[in-house]
Amino acid sequence: MKVLVATEKPFAKVAIDGIRSEVEAAGHQLALLEKYTEKAQLLDAVKNADALIIRSDKIDAEVLDAAKQLQIVVRAGAGYDNVDLAAATAHKVVVENTPGQNANAVAELVFGLLVFAVRNFYNGKSGTELLGKKLGILAFGNVGRNVARIAKGFGMDVYAFDAYCPKEAIEAAGVHAVDSQDALFEVSDIVSLHIPATAETKESINYALVNKLPKGGILVNTARKEVINEPELLKLMAERTDLKYVADIKPDADAEFAQFEGRYFATPKKMGAQTTEANTNAGIAAAKQINAYFAEGCTKFQVNK
Ligand code: 3PG
Repeated sequence: MKVLVATEKPFAKVAIDGIRSEVEAAGHQLALLEKYTEKAQLLDAVKNADALIIRSDKIDAEVLDAAKQLQIVVRAGAGYDNVDLAAATAHKVVVENTPGQNANAVAELVFGLLVFAVRNFYNGKSGTELLGKKLGILAFGNVGRNVARIAKGFGMDVYAFDAYCPKEAIEAAGVHAVDSQDALFEVSDIVSLHIPATAETKESINYALVNKLPKGGILVNTARKEVINEPELLKLMAERTDLKYVADIKPDADAEFAQFEGRYFATPKKMGAQTTEANTNAGIAAAKQINAYFAEGCTKFQVNK
């Protein structure tokens, strides 16, 4: 079988070496399409692929149409909003993700962004510390749990809300569970977003919600830009000059946010999962899942059921 790694944003070399040895040990062949710049390159490369390993690469109906032999796509990472699941199902293609494999990397970046924010983006002026501050975690999945673990090391008071996770599970992790998204924003000095981009969450982080943050509040987004209602957040930040927004994803309205000097920062490229460890963990997990699918028909991590 031919396994294609198609990544606009490439994995670290050590991760590719690991993926190659997994794939070849199972008797399959590895092909690479890295740092591609045109969709046409992807359409051409997928033609004879039986399996595909991707990151945030867009897999839409056109790509699936071109991939005549494709049986399985593994998104090496958590969020799979970049894959058209309905089209994949229609093409009888299994879609999987590798949950948890890059969670620590994303969680560590949350604190990289936060220290930068509370120290006024290192402009030399006196800032604040994270110790004793209230951190609200929106969605208590793999990344949220890692954020909670690290926050405790900083001596933060940690709160969480997750519409799909029982309060008991949150409390069992030593985190205060709150009853709603609104309550989380009301209680927290800082809110960190870990919700996926779905029809339900798109633009859900809006004026009314973020306005619940207390004075000096910080919103940190290492999830997806789509969950933010950008016009409403811009309006709020113009009105409330105490708020800061730090993100691992450049908003569409980056230029407008940039006017809030000293209160806004976004990484130039999504960096959360861009570590050797996360690339290796997620990449090798993807290769193993593909091998298990071809060997045993295993679909444990399928997301388009
Ligand atoms: C994920 O959903 O796993 C993260 O957002 C990482 O995405 P990336 O693989 O494109 O860096």
